[in-house]
Amino acid sequence: MQKKIKASRRSMGMNYAIREILVPAAAAAACGTKMYNFNIGDPNKWDFKTPEYFKETLRQAVDNTDNGYGDSQGSIGLRQAIVDREYEKNGIRIDTKDVYVTAGVSECINVMMGALVEPGDEILVPGPGYPSYAQYINFYEGKTVPYRMIEEEDWAPDVDMLENRITNRTKAIVVINPNNPTGAVYREKDLRRIGDIAAEYDIPIISDEIYDKIVFDGRFFSMSRLSSDVPRAVLNGFSKVNLMPGWRQGYAYFMDEHGLMDEIREGMMKQFRARICANVPCQEAARASLQGPQDYIADMNRKLRERAEFSHRRLNEIPGISANRPRGALYILPKVELTDWKTDKEFVYDVINSTGVVLVHGSGFCEEFGQGHFRSLLLPPVGTLSEAYDLLDRFMRKHQRSST
Ligand SMILES: Cc1ncc(COP(=O)(O)O)c(C=O)c1O
Repeated sequence: MQKKIKASRRSMGMNYAIREILVPAAAAAACGTKMYNFNIGDPNKWDFKTPEYFKETLRQAVDNTDNGYGDSQGSIGLRQAIVDREYEKNGIRIDTKDVYVTAGVSECINVMMGALVEPGDEILVPGPGYPSYAQYINFYEGKTVPYRMIEEEDWAPDVDMLENRITNRTKAIVVINPNNPTGAVYREKDLRRIGDIAAEYDIPIISDEIYDKIVFDGRFFSMSRLSSDVPRAVLNGFSKVNLMPGWRQGYAYFMDEHGLMDEIREGMMKQFRARICANVPCQEAARASLQGPQDYIADMNRKLRERAEFSHRRLNEIPGISANRPRGALYILPKVELTDWKTDKEFVYDVINSTGVVLVHGSGFCEEFGQGHFRSLLLPPVGTLSEAYDLLDRFMRKHQRSST
């Protein structure tokens, strides 16, 4: 008798809520429901379009190069453009040898955790926080240790908890700022305290700054600006600010004066060689996006700020829902009173089936500190947000009536 082949435990343990929610969404769509896909932070699905000169550069790269493999660390042209961008944005001087180009930040997270984590090692991550970190930490049999984001303090990181959760197995501290899913932009004083703790315990920081140019009041402090004795890697990419998510471009750079992370870098480099290289023509487009006109970013922020204001006001008008004002990134994370539902996941499934509005449950971003919330998106135009939140309003009022 033929036997089915078993998948690895590691792969079967993966669970990326942002896309898994598409399963119930597809079922609702198949019944003819009009869908509002507010689950994925993809600007290009809404009225944010890849600037024409990026596309032209990509076309030319395809036409004028040999379309062969490239450098495993990334093209020197793109790495130099990243060095210049980081100088302009954060006033820091890094070198092209410190920069690694990846297939989106997602690949960088995978490779970084692959180099860092031995079974049982612990990584501190924000809770709630972008779920890829936990997925890959778990994949490499490490332990994800969340530190709380404090809702009552505008989702600021609980730095005391972060320190209390450090053990002799702690291998790194992940910071995501501006934050997905809370929409928080962290205060400089909290980030400096995290830097001090990292220095005191000799733990590197991994700072995900993919939304660094999507801030609504101009305030942003990059971990690259910490004092030089904190070993750190900053992750960034082209999927959000640079409007090319499908082209899969991202990068990491290291700031590590004493070379404490040299072996981690070599462990990453070994993986980069094994996967050969990131998409070569798209690296050209990524380079152009850093060197050409940047006015599309201000346009994007103008729209997002208006949509953030609207979302914040409208969601707070809905009975049973309350939300902090988003300060950056593409998201808002309201709290919901779970009167008729046991979990936020049950709530979100009910919303999808009853209204077609596809949200993501907060517990998908952290079981311990995300429960009782849902993530929505700032990207849709106000008219679309308004339609979806009218449906959500009616849904909540119906439930409030039936539970009194
Ligand atoms: C905080 C954060 N990091 C990384 C990513 C992954 O981005 P990409 O792989 O498209 O660069 C995302 C995507 O939503 C994100 O929100």
